[in-house]
Amino acid sequence: MSLLLILSLVFLLSWNVADAGGDDQQKAFVQCLSNSTSVASNISNIVYPSDNPSFSSILEFSIRNRRFDTPTTPKPLVIVTPRNVSHIQSAVLCAQSHNLQLRVRSGGHDYEGLSYVSPRPFVVLDLIQMSNITVDAANQTAWVQSGATVGQVYAQVGKSSNTLAFPASVCHTVGIGGIVSGGGYGTLLRYAGLAADHVADVQVVDARGRVRDRASLGEDVFWAIRGGGGNTFGIVVAWKFNLVTVPETVTMFSVTKTLEQGPTKYLAKWQKIADALPNELLIRIVMYKAVNPVTIAVVFNCLYVGSKDKALSLIQESFPELGVTPEVMFEMTWAQSTIQFAGINGTTLDSLESRTPVKDVTYFKAKSDYVTKPIPDSAMDGLLKMMMQDGIEQPYVIFTPYGGKMAEIASNSIPFPHREGNLFKIQYLVYWKEDSEEVSNAHMKWIRDVYDYMGSYVSSNPRAAYMNYRDLDIGENMNSSTGGNGTMAYQQAKVWGVKYFKGNFERLVKIKTAFDPTNFFSNEQSIPSLGAGKEGQTTSSNNSSPASAPSGDSDGGNNAGNETQSGDNNAGNGTQSGDVGQGDNNNNNNGTQIGGVLRGDNGNSTTQTIASVVIRYGPRSYYYLVLLFLVLFV
Ligand code: FDA
Repeated sequence: MSLLLILSLVFLLSWNVADAGGDDQQKAFVQCLSNSTSVASNISNIVYPSDNPSFSSILEFSIRNRRFDTPTTPKPLVIVTPRNVSHIQSAVLCAQSHNLQLRVRSGGHDYEGLSYVSPRPFVVLDLIQMSNITVDAANQTAWVQSGATVGQVYAQVGKSSNTLAFPASVCHTVGIGGIVSGGGYGTLLRYAGLAADHVADVQVVDARGRVRDRASLGEDVFWAIRGGGGNTFGIVVAWKFNLVTVPETVTMFSVTKTLEQGPTKYLAKWQKIADALPNELLIRIVMYKAVNPVTIAVVFNCLYVGSKDKALSLIQESFPELGVTPEVMFEMTWAQSTIQFAGINGTTLDSLESRTPVKDVTYFKAKSDYVTKPIPDSAMDGLLKMMMQDGIEQPYVIFTPYGGKMAEIASNSIPFPHREGNLFKIQYLVYWKEDSEEVSNAHMKWIRDVYDYMGSYVSSNPRAAYMNYRDLDIGENMNSSTGGNGTMAYQQAKVWGVKYFKGNFERLVKIKTAFDPTNFFSNEQSIPSLGAGKEGQTTSSNNSSPASAPSGDSDGGNNAGNETQSGDNNAGNGTQSGDVGQGDNNNNNNGTQIGGVLRGDNGNSTTQTIASVVIRYGPRSYYYLVLLFLVLFV
């Protein structure tokens, strides 16, 4: 009899649960947002539930890797495209109160699609509408909102002055939010370091929906967000950069050698000199499979931060074998050089600014390595041979020289640790177009084989990797969507964490634990929280005063909690003590709610386990846990 009762209960509850879940969370989230007056007045322009006719085009607009745009790729329940900081605050608070994961997207270039894909019910906060750039040429600074692209920043800096520059990526379409969060290198890396090395201030929305700046974050968190990985500490709304000065004229040149010309000898010479050249000279190597006839092209792409005369004498003295002549050298401004390096069809700075969806997005996979001693010729020959493998459509191997400014900056200056002692960085990359599992498997296998092959010739203990070339092959968090809390999560994260951050990983974990202990900002490779601290605190400062807004459209201040959550969620008012729950049942301050338990206040192991399951698998799992309990004990 009791078994029959239980089975009926199971049926009834399952039926209800099937109706609940995603749809209900979606509706509740949208309803929560509409309670915010600032969102409500713009809702049709900023909130796109999955049944909105514009949903797919907005989602696909910034997707750069087709591997994460298939019919089976998990899609967000809602996309929010905020236009000001209060919209972001509302999205953070509503996602928390409805137990939705938040994935923030700036340029959408994440190699593993983590800014727009999650295995658990999620919302995408797409910053595409937040791309204001204000250059202050007199003070050599710029405030840039995260949704701007690198090209847009280059164009604005170039238009403001011929002697100012911003060291960021080679590719102009990359988003500021993601690239600075992981480091950000471009053609000026030997001259000026990384984008993240030049951050002077930030505007961040934290897990409690508060707007913070450098002063209120404290120096630890300010250190962590300059390269410690995106979607880990908060939503960076805007960055203030110190710009660098450059001469009015820079010089570009490029020389290509093919397999038939025996490129190994040039590569050997390059390995000897590239990191020791004056900081002004960059010789970067791009190797790819050329067609008609099929060969490997080894392109030596060069930028000299100075005039053609000086560039010529320097290259003829240091690398005469390349055979560079004045005819292949071109003088231009630094901003124009970024157009050339990006390979854009266009000559004006405006061409850097246009943001259109990529046509014919291809599939790709990438991996990275650091080299600390020269690779032997025989190994280089083997690599070139692998690039010629039949059936592999577009293999690329890119060598970016280090030394110069990169070696002058201490390895713990920001979380990006790859400084002195590195000769160069390798990026392995393979693209394919065909929509076929077989072709996909062959290309994935190829790049993994190349990576295995190179293992003996690159850095070890750890085998270092570049955070911005995200590679889930090197490890994932324990609970892939939440990152997980606690010691086990930490041990698992360490596997990939020390590869990206080396000795800086430990400090990142401490800062994360203190600042976002519930791990609200998380993904498959976010820094884990040990789960012991109080949310919103930093190890050096717990000042929550409002940050000043850098641009006119931002509301600034700490108003989201008040505005969005009329009494049912107490996060975000900037005055609470920090140990009050922020989960979806946090209106009673009694320390027993899920949000509070996860932070370690008053929790016991059973409730913690239940809480983790619910956080990991969503509210639906709560019903299943109740059913399991009934079946086992009633
Ligand atoms: P995306 O929006 O996908 O974000 C990447 C990560 O950062 C995600 O985890 C996301 O959640 C998080 N994030 C985004 N905005 C955030 C915000 N405002 N606050 C907090 N977290 C945020 N790199 C390089 O150093 N030099 C280069 O030349 C290039 N070139 C290049 C070319 C191409 C075609 C691609 C696809 C990629 C590169 N990259 C690169 C790598 C690039 O730096 C890396 O993919 C960045 O993370 C991309 O940043 P987006 O904002 O575009 O990505």
